[in-house]
Amino acid sequence: YVIGVDLGTSAVKVLLMNQEGKVCDEVSKSYPLFQEKSGYSEQEPVEWVDKTTAALKELVAKFDGDVSDIEGISFSGQMHGLVLLNKDHQVLRNAILWNDTRTTEQCRQIYDLVGEDQLLQITKNPALEGFTLPKLLWVKQYEPEVLAKASVFMLPKDYLRYKMTDQIHSEYSDAAGTLLLNVAEKKWSQDICELVGIDFELCPPLVAPHEFVGEITESFANETGLAKTTKVFAGGADNACGAIGSAILSEGKTLCSIGTSGVVLSYEETKDRDFGGKVHYFNHGEENAFYTMGVTLAAGYSLSWFRDTFAKDVAFEDLLAGLNEVPIGANGLLFTPYLVGERTPYADATIRASFIGMDGSHERIDFARSVIEGITFSLNESIEIFRESGKTIDTIISIGGGAKNETWLQIQADVFNAKIVKLSSEQGPAVGASMLAAYGSGWFTSLQECANVFTAEDKVYEPIPENVEKYKTLFKLYKEVYQQTKLLNE
Ligand code: XUL
Repeated sequence: YVIGVDLGTSAVKVLLMNQEGKVCDEVSKSYPLFQEKSGYSEQEPVEWVDKTTAALKELVAKFDGDVSDIEGISFSGQMHGLVLLNKDHQVLRNAILWNDTRTTEQCRQIYDLVGEDQLLQITKNPALEGFTLPKLLWVKQYEPEVLAKASVFMLPKDYLRYKMTDQIHSEYSDAAGTLLLNVAEKKWSQDICELVGIDFELCPPLVAPHEFVGEITESFANETGLAKTTKVFAGGADNACGAIGSAILSEGKTLCSIGTSGVVLSYEETKDRDFGGKVHYFNHGEENAFYTMGVTLAAGYSLSWFRDTFAKDVAFEDLLAGLNEVPIGANGLLFTPYLVGERTPYADATIRASFIGMDGSHERIDFARSVIEGITFSLNESIEIFRESGKTIDTIISIGGGAKNETWLQIQADVFNAKIVKLSSEQGPAVGASMLAAYGSGWFTSLQECANVFTAEDKVYEPIPENVEKYKTLFKLYKEVYQQTKLLNE
């Protein structure tokens, strides 16, 4: 057996899988998010450790085999969050998370100090509020006494792994989201550290995602009931693990994953394609591979916001009942999902959402359809960037919230003008984390071989040409809304 730990933004999920790739059990525990001021988003690292320990303890207690048969454990983690430790490896302040947008000024400073071209050349990414380096600069500026005490910075799941093993590491796929990694060379960039005035010594040692980093500590074994011999493998960023767990492991494979945020990501064999920083370009969980990715900040969040605001206590299933009876275009309603700003293609933390075209006759289901269409249009902007750079996107694996509703799957096929594939088991990044442990443990000779056993396709949704044409017209209108609503903020 192996365990995949998915350290998410709202909860941690631990998944027990066997050698046939079957999910044997899972336990989930949630933790709070602190939003002390507008734009702030923080969590207490100790909560991640406590809740993961409790989840593992519960999983082990229910396990009726020999615990020493649980050979390995690995991780998927929310990306970009900043954890700072002092010289005794105590946490210095709350973690600042990926969806915290307080750092617009620090992003400007990074461009001034490093230069846009050089930043893109080294990190292959633009300076965005969510990334880790702007957060380090924010702490340097507003809490200099905290940074002065820091001996190392860590990413969320790397901190969790440290507490289980006593070993400090980061790995390439998560390090790629810090803006401090030379993505092509897989090394921390001394040049960027010097230019922005961050001590290079704060960067933790780097390993590959499937690499063995140690066994669990005696005390962690005692607390959870896991065997002391359980091997720990580094793990990957949640999006990299989502890619692994959906078999996005060769050129031409593309994933659409809708959670709180939504991403479209595509496998890249090399570091050489040029997107001019319009989409993220990160190291994959498969060593030496990459992926490009566009992000819609409020994807699933747009739908849950809509439900919580206008249909409290209504189950999603009921909210979306009748979705397929509303025609394409939601009877003239158009929604842009910029509730918390937008990442791709605008990198604009201040833009806000809109409903356009409301009519007295519109019902709740028209609004629900327009929210779903708007989220899908936003993701299509990332797909458009991929296609413009010469990529062929004809098949997309869809996971997460967008794969839970048949009509939404067809909307994806029609808006993206691509075949949409639904997988038969829906466990997202936790499966990718389990696969890193399975591959690291030597069960398979490659992640692809592991994916052949651990993943299976369920159903395919073909684009319907007539619908594709209708959505092309609506998508053009959708894209015009950004420029106009932007003026509202000026
Ligand atoms: C990716 C990003 C989010 C987080 C969510 O750049 O910010 O998808 O990884 O955990």
